[in-house]
Order: sequence, then C-alpha cells, then structure tokens
Amino acid sequence: MAQEGQPVNERFPRSSAYHPDWVLAAVSGGANSLWLTEWLVEAMDLHSGMRVLDLGCGRGASSIFLHRELGVQVWATDLWFGADERLARIRDAGVEHSVFPIHADARALPFAAGFFDAIVSIDSFVNGQFVVPAGGQVKVPGPGSFSWC
Ligand SMILES: C[S@@+](CC[C@H](N)C(=O)[O-])C[C@H]1O[C@@H](n2cnc3c(N)ncnc32)[C@H](O)[C@@H]1O
Repeated sequence: MAQEGQPVNERFPRSSAYHPDWVLAAVSGGANSLWLTEWLVEAMDLHSGMRVLDLGCGRGASSIFLHRELGVQVWATDLWFGADERLARIRDAGVEHSVFPIHADARALPFAAGFFDAIVSIDSFVNGQFVVPAGGQVKVPGPGSFSWC
C-alpha cells in the first residue's frame, strides 16, 4: 500500500504511508477515513489484541488501518457495503487473521453484550454502545468528539 515519494501530510503521518489510490478506492461516502481514524485513536487507549467494533466502516479502510497501526482485532461492520468486497480488500492487505468483515445493522448487532473493548465509528451514526462493557471505549469523530461508558 505504501509507496516511496508519495505526498505526506505531516498532521497524519500514519495515514500518509497508505497509497492515495488505495485510499481513494476505499472511499465509502465519507471524508478521508484514515485521517479521521488516526485523529480519533489519538484520544483512545487501544493496544494490541483488543477487540474493536468499527461500526459503519464502509469499505473497511479504517478497519485495516486500525489493525495495521495498533494491532487490535477489528470487526469491520457495515450495512450498505457488502462484506464480500470488504473481505477482498482485507485479504489484499494481508490482515484477514485479525480483521473480520460483518454485514449487520447497528440497530440489531449480532454480538454478545460486552464482547468489545472499544467501538469506533467514522462518519457514521452509532447505536451499538451496549456491546462494550462498562468502562469500555466508544469514540466518534466530530465537533466535540465524544465518548461514553
Ligand atoms: C458516510 S458512510 C462512512 C463510511 C466509512 N466509515 C468512511 O468513513 O468512509 C456511512 C456508513 O454508515 C453505514 N451505516 C448506515 N446505517 C447503518 C446501520 N444502521 N448499521 C450499520 N451501518 C450503517 C453505511 O453502510 C455507510 O457505510
């Protein structure tokens, strides 16, 4: 994905390592999902092995980024975009051992209560806070980025 000589945005050094064509191919109706994810995780305490729900992940670029950059396991969950396309992108990135494409509606998530350590939701509406235990992390980027437990 990374390529020498490509433009670098100093504010988002991790995102800058991803090839712009790859980022563009994964656009899902939102803004630059890698920038938003990089910004968001600066406010979170995510570390290797944690289970993260990426809710409304679209084509899954943010999910791949979360695993590659932080070593977390990611359930890449979305309604409008198909899980097959997401799986192809996940496999292409070589992260299918830790990023799992799920087709589901945030209003009826197929996960056990308390299963996740954290939820992120990039440019999407979140209605899945019940799947993190008390003290779990939920972060959504936006003015006054918020969290709740
Ligand atoms: C603006 S797109 C953002 C996608 C991606 N996070 C990004 O930043 O590129 C909003 C996403 O929310 C998802 N979405 C909308 N309603 C949903 C629901 N009820 N359950 C799950 N995902 C939903 C859509 O499928 C879509 O991919």
